Amino acid sequence: MDRRTFLNASLAGATAALLPRFALATPQGEYFELTAAKGSQRLFGEDGELSELWLYNGRLPGPEIRVKRGERVKVRFINKLDTPTSVHWHGIRIDNAMDGVAGLTQAAVAPGDSFDYDFVVPDTGTYWYHAHNMSWNQVPRGLAGPLIVEDDTPAFDPDCDITMMLSDWRLDEDGRLDTNSFGARHDFSHAGRLGNWLTVNGNSLPDIRLKKGHWHRLRLINSSASRILDLAPARFGARLIGLDGQLFDAQRSIDDLVQLSPAQRMDLVMKPEASGTIPFEMMTGQAFTFANFIVEDANPSSADLKLPPKNALPEPDMENALQLPLDMAGGAMGGMRALMRTRSEDDLRQMMSKGLFWTLNDTAGMPERPMFTAERGQTVVLDSLNETGFPHAMHIHGHHFRVLERSGKQLEHQDWRDTFTSDPQERVKIAFVADNPGKWLIHCHMLGHAASGMMTWFEVT
Ligand code: C2O
Ligand code: CU
Repeated sequence: MDRRTFLNASLAGATAALLPRFALATPQGEYFELTAAKGSQRLFGEDGELSELWLYNGRLPGPEIRVKRGERVKVRFINKLDTPTSVHWHGIRIDNAMDGVAGLTQAAVAPGDSFDYDFVVPDTGTYWYHAHNMSWNQVPRGLAGPLIVEDDTPAFDPDCDITMMLSDWRLDEDGRLDTNSFGARHDFSHAGRLGNWLTVNGNSLPDIRLKKGHWHRLRLINSSASRILDLAPARFGARLIGLDGQLFDAQRSIDDLVQLSPAQRMDLVMKPEASGTIPFEMMTGQAFTFANFIVEDANPSSADLKLPPKNALPEPDMENALQLPLDMAGGAMGGMRALMRTRSEDDLRQMMSKGLFWTLNDTAGMPERPMFTAERGQTVVLDSLNETGFPHAMHIHGHHFRVLERSGKQLEHQDWRDTFTSDPQERVKIAFVADNPGKWLIHCHMLGHAASGMMTWFEVT
């Protein structure tokens, strides 16, 4: 990342990073009010300049919503912005009408209007919610928050169960959110809107307090518009227990970097054995600290690590699968070449003049008809090929899929995910059971890519 401007600046005292929590769902419960409105906050240091942001309930990130598996979430969303918006509950296997996709599952909520979201959460895990109308413009202004679904008996003490929403910001030279560059064609046709500063739970370089000798669960969420975060959990003594809300059979210790792409989540456990400071770093060739764990003395705990049970997700039936390609093409750096097989130069020029730079299966932008239709219960295998010059973070709404193969190689762990990263020229094969009726998006979660072509949908009937 480009840290020239900021790295040398001195940051005034670190801030605490624990998020307040709102447990809100009960079957008889009232609606929890979630209001989107303009607000301002310092993104760069405690005495930095205020940035003009769009916030949920005046907070950055939005309030952490914590519920238990099987509970009903009732959120009255109120739009006090002067632009239409909607709320998507990312990674939740949700009732389609509540998926929050403006233009597909609901009309965008007009300024001054409200919309009642009311759904049951079937799975435990680390999820999030974010704006889903012109997301490229709304999410990187602050419209995102964590959604945590707990098991009936949480396996960790509340103060050892820590959410960390990681967000990349593009700040100007005064340390204010750069709003002039929103929607820049260069960002859309290249790697998306990349920032130059990272916050954890909306704070610059916060301290996160841990208890010596206790097991902690860290729930990492990448809410960045485009930034892939390279993390090295082993460097701070953490082990991986799950991805995108779904836990593994056993914890994994990983020596290499783990990529956390936009929208992805990573669940870690760690038990610090000595008091002191442990940096939480992003690796960009070199390590860059963007939070510090402060390990404090605590009464010793003999509690063993207990992981909550995994979710029961439907297993793909590979024998009877609907096999489909998912070709990604377009973009700068040679990505248009693949499109020249089927399109004339004139055609390409026209496409670009409409602000479309990318295609999925040779279609740029939301098609009128679904990319495919599956009957409820059918297994779908998507064989994706990235023919562009950039990585993409492909998200499927309403379903979790197993990642089976990368470039023809069967994976050892065929992890469940809701968003997968695909590198240039890589083939990634995924499978899921289309068991949730309705209209579901497939799109790149580099939000500028979605806005400039990488967005399609399928229907489960
Ligand atoms: Cu976080 Cu369309 O999604
Ligand atoms: Cu992309």
